[in-house]
Amino acid sequence: MFYFGVDYYPEQWPEERWPEDARLMAGAGFNVVRLAEFAWARLEPQAGRYDFDWLDRAIAILAGQGMRVVLGTPTASPPPWLMTGQPELFRVREDGRRVTYGNRREYCPNHPLYHDYTRGIVTSMATHYGAHPAVIGWQIDNEFGDRCYCPVCAHAFQQWLRSRYQSLDELNQQWGTMFWSHRYGDWAEIPVPLTTGGSPNPGLALDFYRFVSDSYVAYQQMQIDILRRHCPGHFITHNFMGFKYDRLNYYDLARNLDLVAWDNYQRMQWQMQAEVDPSQGALAADTMRGLKRQNFWVMEQQAGPGGWEIVSVPPRPGELRLWAYQSIAHGADAILFFRWRTARFGTEQYWHGLLDHDGRPSRRYEEIKRMGAEIKRAGGHIYGATVRPAVALLLSYDARFAFQIQQNNPQFYYPDHLHQLYRAFYQRHVPLDVAAPAADLSAYRLVLAPALHLVSETVADNLSRFVQAGGVLVLTSRSGVKDEANAVVNRPLPGLLAELSGVEVDEYVSLAAESRNGLEFLLPELATAHPPEATIWCDVLKPNGATVVARYTRDYYAGKPAITLNQFGQGKVVYIGTLGNGPIYETLAGWLLSLAGVRRLLAAAAGVEVTERWQGERRLLFVLNHGEREQEVTLDSRYVSLLDDAAGTAPVEGTVTVPPRDVLVLERV
Ligand code: GAL
Repeated sequence: MFYFGVDYYPEQWPEERWPEDARLMAGAGFNVVRLAEFAWARLEPQAGRYDFDWLDRAIAILAGQGMRVVLGTPTASPPPWLMTGQPELFRVREDGRRVTYGNRREYCPNHPLYHDYTRGIVTSMATHYGAHPAVIGWQIDNEFGDRCYCPVCAHAFQQWLRSRYQSLDELNQQWGTMFWSHRYGDWAEIPVPLTTGGSPNPGLALDFYRFVSDSYVAYQQMQIDILRRHCPGHFITHNFMGFKYDRLNYYDLARNLDLVAWDNYQRMQWQMQAEVDPSQGALAADTMRGLKRQNFWVMEQQAGPGGWEIVSVPPRPGELRLWAYQSIAHGADAILFFRWRTARFGTEQYWHGLLDHDGRPSRRYEEIKRMGAEIKRAGGHIYGATVRPAVALLLSYDARFAFQIQQNNPQFYYPDHLHQLYRAFYQRHVPLDVAAPAADLSAYRLVLAPALHLVSETVADNLSRFVQAGGVLVLTSRSGVKDEANAVVNRPLPGLLAELSGVEVDEYVSLAAESRNGLEFLLPELATAHPPEATIWCDVLKPNGATVVARYTRDYYAGKPAITLNQFGQGKVVYIGTLGNGPIYETLAGWLLSLAGVRRLLAAAAGVEVTERWQGERRLLFVLNHGEREQEVTLDSRYVSLLDDAAGTAPVEGTVTVPPRDVLVLERV
């Protein structure tokens, strides 16, 4: 069943209002609410005294209007009674200072006492609601994150290292602690990488980031175990933060959950830009689908302008619905809007819900109500339909962490690099999967592995198998540079990928912000009037069997190869030796697609997004017009529209018009 609903905070409003809220929710076509993820103070007003009566009453009212309930475990925002007088429960930031009470997410994920309180509240909720007929699932905590550097974590880090390396000799060797005399003679000597310690050993810092990630995974697992025991019929999820969030290894966090849910905001107060880049939402959704390689829920879909101290630019009429359909177009099987009614108080007073502060339905409510009626018709066709791209983009959290430690060049930002590459294909209406480097790649014809910085034997073998079997692999600079301990490999770059790519990096040049180099393409199919420029980084390449695709035109390495193409087994490897900016990938995308034999879904104007989902053999096509102007697209077959009411279900074919900020959801007939 396709779930469509909203995040609701009954504890923030008078009880007399609840029936009206539930009635309006049903009027919008909602069938699910998420509740209670910030209600710890109300659920456990004093240590060990639990109060579920109010929540039972709220659920009864909501269930009376047909809502199903996802409950949040409230551990992201501990109440004052829990934190007061127990300073050691607070997280320590990387500058060594403890956070203080006043926001949320202030706790240390490793503190045994916090674990005790967590077990208390989660067990009571789980036993109370395990058999409740309206409850269908759980969200654990809320948006895990934030590194803690406290003494409890420092000690747990040392234990973690002990089990990873077994011996101090091994650790010292892997980290290269002879450098600056950091040789550790006792596990207890190993510090956490506080900023007061200056630039850390990259091996230590990467392991610490992995350890923090593992700490949250373990803390989550503690809650999963409780819920599994008491609520065997319920699903368990967590609300992830899309592509942007970079402090946790999201593949690990997703592993033992039943499904990934995430929070999708296109307009936040922190980004006051006038225009939204729709490829951002697309990449975020594809990343979330990639974590478990399965469809996802959107637990928080934007419902209005975002705002804490600053109020964001408002979503324009049509955008909330359009963005919600974008989530669906990329694999959402449920959408919940954040939030129901705009809070009158608290930090998020200006984070707008579907209802305004005064409780009146806004234009945003009316827009989503229209969508609710559409979902009633179309949801059953869409639910469970899979996304099956032929192209994958590899996202590595190890690489992400490593580049947080050593950026390599101040203009280089790993997530932006991935986004630029992604955008080049998105604009060509080619869908992508986001996948882990060690994932099974056999379903793909083209794999993009940008700046794959740390490469293990396992990953190298995986990529090699993919190419051997006929796949096309694209590597960019800074790939294969590090081993798993974050030391530079003891072989020519791109390290374990050198043989595969038929090329070696003879020298690399980190460019100043204002510096550029020219590129000249040697392949006729790439001869363009305005070849893109090389920026940020230039690998000077020495082919070792590979063909030169492009060379540099300036500076002391003018004439030296910049991009190469290698035949390996049945497949090919393209090495792009400069990080460049978007234009490079836009220039290369068409060629790469033809090398791999991948075709666009549909020809459409820029600003029109096209995706597909498959319900068995039935093809669903999504056409989203993100622009201000009406657009025409030419369909490749006969389709019926799933969103229109019965009167509009005559098949469509040929050229169809998509109004501005509108969407077509079509099923091939
Ligand atoms: C999300 C969070 C919500 C709310 C929202 C708006 O990231 O999960 O609780 O804070 O952002 O700020």
